[in-house]
Amino acid sequence: MTTALVTGGTSGIGAAFARALAARGHDLVLVARDSERLASFAAELTSQHRIAVETMTADLGEHSDVEKVAARLADPNAPIDRLVNNAGFGIRTRLTAEDLSPHEHGIDVMIRAVLLLSGAAARTMQARGAGSIINISSTAGFVTMGSYSATKAWVTVYTEGLATELTGSGVRVTVVCPGWVRTEFHQRAEIGVSGIPDRMWLDADQVAAQGLRDNDRGKVICIPSRRYAAMMFAARHVPRSLIRTVSARLSSGRH
Ligand SMILES: NC(=O)c1ccc[n+]([C@@H]2O[C@H](COP(=O)([O-])OP(=O)(O)OC[C@H]3O[C@@H](n4cnc5c(N)ncnc54)[C@H](OP(=O)(O)O)[C@@H]3O)[C@@H](O)[C@H]2O)c1
Repeated sequence: MTTALVTGGTSGIGAAFARALAARGHDLVLVARDSERLASFAAELTSQHRIAVETMTADLGEHSDVEKVAARLADPNAPIDRLVNNAGFGIRTRLTAEDLSPHEHGIDVMIRAVLLLSGAAARTMQARGAGSIINISSTAGFVTMGSYSATKAWVTVYTEGLATELTGSGVRVTVVCPGWVRTEFHQRAEIGVSGIPDRMWLDADQVAAQGLRDNDRGKVICIPSRRYAAMMFAARHVPRSLIRTVSARLSSGRH
């Protein structure tokens, strides 16, 4: 029996990964802040898939909680075979705001925790000669929409670096860069979505399915859907000034 740990595994993309991994017969460790929601989702997955689900209440913005999850990943008596670093949120605060703490919080949860949890998992998986790490980034990392884009650009480049370092180790490393996905993300960050055309929305279950498929194949960068893959190919080949103009337009439409 293999075990997967999913951060932010109670909602949206993380919950979709949890369901897909449960359907494959993996036992799960789900990490999030809301204990009641963790318990009810764990009960649902256990009864539907006859797997074991462990829950960890942790705020990945808190250093001590990140240490607790890193220690779980490194536990030799209960090995974790797959890690999905998914917990995250949108940041709308302007870069010139008086209070920059939302940006600091974003860096803690979406950079610092990803660095420490990936590192803990990679060390033990490398020693075992097998394992898989999936980090959830975003197509936002290819454009310039404030610190959220900068954070996700870090996740993408960091994961490529980790994949390079682990080449030949038996550990498969993938960064998943979805476009817009219907989850609680936009409502939580109070991001307006009325201007986003229907055809641009992705389904969380499809994102998880493609992420797992690409990781199984050893693909390092996964951009779910042909449409977004083509758009991001173009984004990497046009002048950055055009990317900044498009990003400014997208940002102004979010409020
Ligand atoms: N939705 C999109 O359009 C989209 C597109 C590209 C990338 N993404 C990325 O996908 C990932 C998942 O987002 P989502 O859209 O699925 O959002 P979501 O539905 O809001 O789910 C976020 C999950 O993360 C957990 N979480 C949030 N803050 C946390 C913290 N400080 N510590 C521990 N867990 C925390 C939440 O649980 P608790 O609240 O209980 O902690 C929840 O399980 C994020 O990294 C996001 O940046 C989303």
